[in-house]
Amino acid sequence: MLLSPDDKRNRFEKILQQIERLLDQPGSTEERLQSICRMLREGIPYYHWVGFYRVDPEKDRELVLGPYEGEPTEHTRIPFGKGICGQAAEQGRTFVVPDVSKVDNYLSCSVRVRSEIVVPIVKAGGVVGELDVDSHDLAPFSSEDTEYLEKIARMISQRLF
Ligand code: SME
Repeated sequence: MLLSPDDKRNRFEKILQQIERLLDQPGSTEERLQSICRMLREGIPYYHWVGFYRVDPEKDRELVLGPYEGEPTEHTRIPFGKGICGQAAEQGRTFVVPDVSKVDNYLSCSVRVRSEIVVPIVKAGGVVGELDVDSHDLAPFSSEDTEYLEKIARMISQRLF
């Protein structure tokens, strides 16, 4: 389902308010990250899998899966540079892939996934994690998705990482 820019903005603004309320209430980091995944997946109809990866402090340049909503994935650990997630971690920038069948360095979680956006979570100049969204739709992401997911990643970096 594709939404107009205004519809997207309204939905993301509501989610930002929900996240603000969530961060004002008591709760563990894991519970809060899980709730943020749920809010995004329920609030944006083309977000079919939403999850967090963290940079594993015990390993050299490796991501480890954190809280997520959606189907289980076999990619619980991803080295820097591998797949979209590993490239986003290595380069420290957002990756938007409108059609995953058109890229080589991609790790498939499910044959139903057709597009993906990965936003790094940066702290003190370094990547500490990322927010990863998969969609079963082709090319659903626009500048609004990047703008709001980057905003959410900044909130999370300040308050939860
Ligand atoms: N598709 C990702 C792997 C993670 S799953 O989407 C949950 C990638 O290419 O890095």
